[in-house]
Amino acid sequence: MTKINAAITAVGCYLPEYVLTNKELEQMVDTNDEWITTRTGIKERRILKGAGKGSSYMAIKASQNLLEKRGLNATEIDLVIVATATADMPVASTAVYVATEIGATNAFAFDLQAACSSFLYGMSVASAYIESGKYKKVLLIGSDKMSSIIDYTDRATCIIFGDAAGAVLFEPNHDGYGLQDELLRSDGIGRSYLKIDAGGSILPASAETVSNKQHYVFQDGKTVFKYAVSNMADVSEKIMERNNLTHNDVNWLAAHQANKRIIDATAHRMKLDDSKVLINIEKYGNTTSATLPLLLCDFEDQLKKGDNIIFASFGGGFTWGAIYLKWAYSK
Ligand code: COA
Repeated sequence: MTKINAAITAVGCYLPEYVLTNKELEQMVDTNDEWITTRTGIKERRILKGAGKGSSYMAIKASQNLLEKRGLNATEIDLVIVATATADMPVASTAVYVATEIGATNAFAFDLQAACSSFLYGMSVASAYIESGKYKKVLLIGSDKMSSIIDYTDRATCIIFGDAAGAVLFEPNHDGYGLQDELLRSDGIGRSYLKIDAGGSILPASAETVSNKQHYVFQDGKTVFKYAVSNMADVSEKIMERNNLTHNDVNWLAAHQANKRIIDATAHRMKLDDSKVLINIEKYGNTTSATLPLLLCDFEDQLKKGDNIIFASFGGGFTWGAIYLKWAYSK
């Protein structure tokens, strides 16, 4: 029997309509377009407006976009994974709701949380299910409504994040296309530097935690930046080395879009030309679990069958890693 690889065979995405520009942020906090652009590369981000809409709303839209583009009936899907750091609610799984709403009635579903690396880890999990031979169609969605956990009076975080969702379909491939290798890492030292203090089991919600604004993201940006730069570059370089890939062999770097300077540092270590680095951070900011599938959605037309793509991410926890994938189709 030939080896089963897990290939991405379709992509979809959803972007909320509301555009929050750097100019508008200038009215909200003490910041300016020049600072944000030079320090992060971000010009604008999307915000999901409307009461009662959570990450599932965007995950459903992104999935429907994928199903429509691919002409696929949702009943064929075996497994739905929602990678998210902003689940609709504690306990009740967001993925289960999404699967039901899109009509994936034959699928089982669960959420996966690894902060900004949720989607990258999800690629590993989805691929393992496909490679096992047990399942044929795994829908992996990255969806985050970051605006639900951001304090829009804190200039250290509110300029960075945005809302969005992206989805990919993994299917078996017997011709060598799909996921080739992965290098995933984590380190609990990160817990102090990027976190939400309250609303979990250590410090449950109370009137006091709300008035102390402890339900918002706290980030020690400088420290996170330092770890992100060295760790994301390390794993990207290592995965190239152990697969005997030079910069000439790599067609694209699809890196987590947290800060353009972090992406540039990773590309530099890999000796990649700028033309091979997928970037859309200027339009969406850091959309956490959605950044990697959003890149695939935006650049799908440029990806060719057989292209070697290195995916890389870094996130809270800390969590980070790199994946080497051979693209399976041309549009
Ligand atoms: N507008 C204007 N000035 C700001 C500002 C803003 N939005 N935010 C911070 N500043 C100020 C600071 O107060 C500081 O002023 P000071 O020197 O007078 O104290 C100065 O700008 C530099 O702040 P610093 O935090 O050192 O900036 P930085 O160059 O590290 O950039 C981040 C800040 C958040 C953009 C950057 O640290 C970063 O991207 N970190 C990693 C993010 C990341 O990868 N996160 C997630 C992984 S998912």
